[in-house]
This record gives sequence, structure tokens and C-alpha cells, in this order.
Amino acid sequence: MPVKVGVVGAGIFGVNHLNTFRQLSYTGVAELAAVAEINPDRAEWVRANYGCPVYLDYNEMLEKEDLDGVSVVTPDHLHRPVTLAACAAGKHVLCEKPLDVTVEGCQEMIDAARRANVLLQVDFHKRYDPEHIAMERRVSSGELGKILYGKVCMEDRIEVPVDWFPHWAPSSSPGWFLGVHFFDLVSWVMKSTGKRVFAVGRKETLNNDYGIDTYDSISAMVEFANGAVISFDLSWILPREFEAVVNQEIKLVGTKGLWEIDTQYRGSRSCVAGEGMKTYNNGFISTYTDKQGRTIYRGYGVESIEDFVRNILALKNGSTLDRLAGKYPSGEDGLEVTKIAVAAHESARTGKVIDIS
Ligand SMILES: NC(=O)c1ccc[n+]([C@@H]2O[C@H](COP(=O)([O-])OP(=O)(O)OC[C@H]3O[C@@H](n4cnc5c(N)ncnc54)[C@H](O)[C@@H]3O)[C@@H](O)[C@H]2O)c1
Repeated sequence: MPVKVGVVGAGIFGVNHLNTFRQLSYTGVAELAAVAEINPDRAEWVRANYGCPVYLDYNEMLEKEDLDGVSVVTPDHLHRPVTLAACAAGKHVLCEKPLDVTVEGCQEMIDAARRANVLLQVDFHKRYDPEHIAMERRVSSGELGKILYGKVCMEDRIEVPVDWFPHWAPSSSPGWFLGVHFFDLVSWVMKSTGKRVFAVGRKETLNNDYGIDTYDSISAMVEFANGAVISFDLSWILPREFEAVVNQEIKLVGTKGLWEIDTQYRGSRSCVAGEGMKTYNNGFISTYTDKQGRTIYRGYGVESIEDFVRNILALKNGSTLDRLAGKYPSGEDGLEVTKIAVAAHESARTGKVIDIS
């Protein structure tokens, strides 16, 4: 029996969830059983393109559809109510990052999943990138020694907050939309959690030129419990002419070695008249056409969603949440990441070093 999945929120990134579940149906592994999308035009588009029942109200979907799991792909600050309702209905949940933008919200979601004895997985897909997995293996085995310091950048072109979701960008920030990816990755690679944070945020062009009240950039220095100090440069105001929508890098330095990865530029680039230079992160999501003419999506951005289905399959086949623990980005991991992000925003607001307790 395929794993029956519903998706809540079929916006720009929701499509990646829809495509992943749909292609898992080609092999009978999963079924995209239903979608909930509050925007009627968008709901109609999903109905026309994915041929599954589409609801405007996710509560109605949860009530009427016999689902095993639900993936939550609503805006950052709207994950919580959907996750709570899905847990209360006894469904396993894959929640987009960040789990929630408050520590209390994360805790409430974790408690709800525990009460219902369901899986709560967070879509921190950076952990599924083979380049990052190689780094995690070498750090975990001690080959780099004790990690002392490191640096991360994750930057988006300005079209992301300005064109993609200007209506909810003020409820998010480069810290929430981008930073959480790498707060989680670094925590996972080093098997440590955030201890102290000092951050500076800048509000310039989005606020002044576009009327979008959010940070252009946040630069955060995070001391982890293992003693490592990592700096995170996060922004979403790169010019539209930049060679890719995203730019991202990570470097960790330990007592016995360093590891450095440019996870945007992986060697594939182009320059077409009128387009300018482009570089491609083909590790994230790439496509090919199978012999039946279907578009197939591959990459760590797909793998992390497929992992949710694999976990549900394992549970249906007799595994337990205890046995799966530590093998996927959990609600508890999401909480630790949110603690760092909350502290970074608090530090940016107050100018103080924030202790995460
Ligand atoms: N993992 C990644 O790489 C990645 C990339 C982009 C976005 N995201 C995350 O995915 C989430 C969605 O981002 P997006 O870019 O798709 O945003 P979006 O604004 O394009 O899409 C959100 C969708 O949710 C719908 N929605 C809102 N409230 C709803 C409700 N109550 N019921 C049903 N539908 C509802 C909206 O109508 C919209 O279609 C965010 O949390 C974002 O951080 C993750």
C-alpha cells in the first residue's frame, strides 16, 4: 500500500513537495492523496495539474482524507497551526523550515507530536547534500580535530523577498528564511547546539526602496556548546544580475584540518546572449526525462522529502519512533535551530550578546 500524503500550501516551494510525492506514485511508494491551498486560483491550478482532491481548508482535508502524513509548506510563521491540527488528527508531519519562529511554538508542536505518537520531521535538506554528508563524516570521525571556528554565507537575490513573497517577507528575514538551514547543518555536523549569539542586522534597501519591513542582512556570530565559533552572513538583497538565485558556502576549521565547500558553484556555468553568466547548483534539484517522457526530479531538495515517506514506510512496517530517532531532522532539532535564530534576532534588536539557555 502506498504511503498517502497530503500537502498544505502549494506555493513556490510547495510544488517541490507535490512533484516529489507524485513521482513516488510512479513506483507505488507514495500517493499524493490531497492538497490544501487557501488561495482559490492556486487551488484550481493544483487541481488542473496534479489531478488530486484540493481543499481550501486544511481542517476539511484532515477530516475527509485518509492520510498517513502531511507536509506543511505554508509561510514560515504559519507552520504551527497546521502542524498542531495534523498531529491532533494522528498524521505524521513533515514541516518546512523553520519549525516555528518562536521557541514556545516549537515546543508546542513537539508536545503535540509526542502526544499523538507521530513523526515530526523538519525539512532541513542541507543534511541530505552528499557534500555535507562527507563533511559530517570526517568531522564526526575526529579527522579535523576539535572544531575551533568557521564561516557560512547564504544569500538570495533580491527577487526572493520582493517578487516571490513580499506579503509575508516582513514576517520572515534572512535569518528565518536562510539562516536556519545552516544553523541546523552546523549543529548536525558538529553534534552540538548553540550557546551564545551576537548578531547585527541591517535594514536598508528592502525597507527604504521597496516598503518591505524586514532585514536586508543579518550577520551572526554563534558560539556553540563544543566551543566552536561560527559566523553566519545571511542576506537576501543580492542584485538581480547575480549569477544564481542563491549563493552559499561553508568552511569549518579544526585543530587538525579544515573543510570548505562552495555549495552553489559546482562546476556548471553558462553565458547566453541576454542572460549573462549563470552558475548552477545541480545538487539541489535537477531534472531529467524518463523513457515514458515524464519529468523526474533529483537532488537533496527531493531526497529530504522522500526521506519522510521512507520513515513513514518504516513505521508502517513495524519500526518505532525510538528506533528512527537521530536518523532524520526532528522537531527537537528544529527547536534548537529556532533557539539560535530567536537569539540572533534578539541580539540584532538589542545589540547585546544573547545566552541561549
Ligand atoms: N527547503 C527549502 O529550500 C525551501 C525553499 C523555499 C521555501 N521554503 C519554505 O517553504 C515554505 C513556503 O514557502 P514558499 O516560498 O512556497 O511560499 P509561498 O508564499 O510561495 O507559498 C505558501 C503557500 O501557502 C498557502 N497558504 C497559506 N496559508 C495557508 C493555509 N492556512 N492553508 C493552505 N494553504 C495556505 C499560500 O496561499 C501559498 O500558496 C516557507 O516556510 C519557506 O521557508 C523552503
